[in-house]
Amino acid sequence: MPVELFAEGLAYAEDNYLNEAASHLKVDKQLLRRRFQLDGKRILDFGCGMGGMTLWYATNWDCEVTGIDIDGQHIAIAQALQQKHGLHNVRFEKRDVLVDPPRGPFDFIVMNDVAEHIPLDVLPKIFRALATLLADDGQIFVSYPPWQSPYASHVVHAVGIPWCQYLPRPLLRWLIRRCNQQLVGELESDLVAAWEGLNRLTHRKLKRALDGSGLRIAWRKSHSILNRLPGMANVSLRFFPFHLLITKEFVVLEKYH
Ligand SMILES: C[S@@+](CC[C@H](N)C(=O)[O-])C[C@H]1O[C@@H](n2cnc3c(N)ncnc32)[C@H](O)[C@@H]1O
Repeated sequence: MPVELFAEGLAYAEDNYLNEAASHLKVDKQLLRRRFQLDGKRILDFGCGMGGMTLWYATNWDCEVTGIDIDGQHIAIAQALQQKHGLHNVRFEKRDVLVDPPRGPFDFIVMNDVAEHIPLDVLPKIFRALATLLADDGQIFVSYPPWQSPYASHVVHAVGIPWCQYLPRPLLRWLIRRCNQQLVGELESDLVAAWEGLNRLTHRKLKRALDGSGLRIAWRKSHSILNRLPGMANVSLRFFPFHLLITKEFVVLEKYH
């Protein structure tokens, strides 16, 4: 990986770690702080990427965190970030959970912005694998931008058009190519690959992926642009046309008992 790209990735991951307002993780952080007490927990950060959130968990709670990812470049940056900040309650591993799962059980498994990157035929297998790693009273926290969201294409910052996932595919590919940039990653190494790797996840597809996993949805919050309005903070507006304003879906999964 070019040195400049490594440095760029490290700076991005560090911002995700230290900046409470880091763009795509701001609401995740607020919600996690408000809703969960993670002291004493064993946490698995599944699809930890470059590790910003992994270090954030490890710093904000007295917990043990394992970050795993299938992308070796992401793990290399995560390990550099960990060394820079000298955290000892974190471990990063390049690992495919379907081939070589880590040793469980974990009390809390997080998937921050990961589920929408996993092919839909693989996602059910991932949930089944994670269910076997989860402690009986454990929880899985999943966050993702649903496909109808203004930013679901993951390229709005470059293309400048919210909801551009609804443009004709050849037109959008051409627009992305015009402003394409290299990204850290063996799998999604530029903007075109990042866009093409998306599985167009919606809540309905997520529910289907959970079938037969032994996991049930215990809680759901659909975070919308409208939640900024006075008195609207906790409202989930999921019906047409307001569902188009949902920027993140948050779901907590538990085992069936
Ligand atoms: C958008 S990044 C999110 C990273 C991190 N969770 C965060 O919130 O900053 C998605 C990550 O999921 C990882 N990923 C995709 N499929 C995976 C799989 N099957 N197993 C583990 N990680 C996976 C990618 O390599 C990438 O690092």
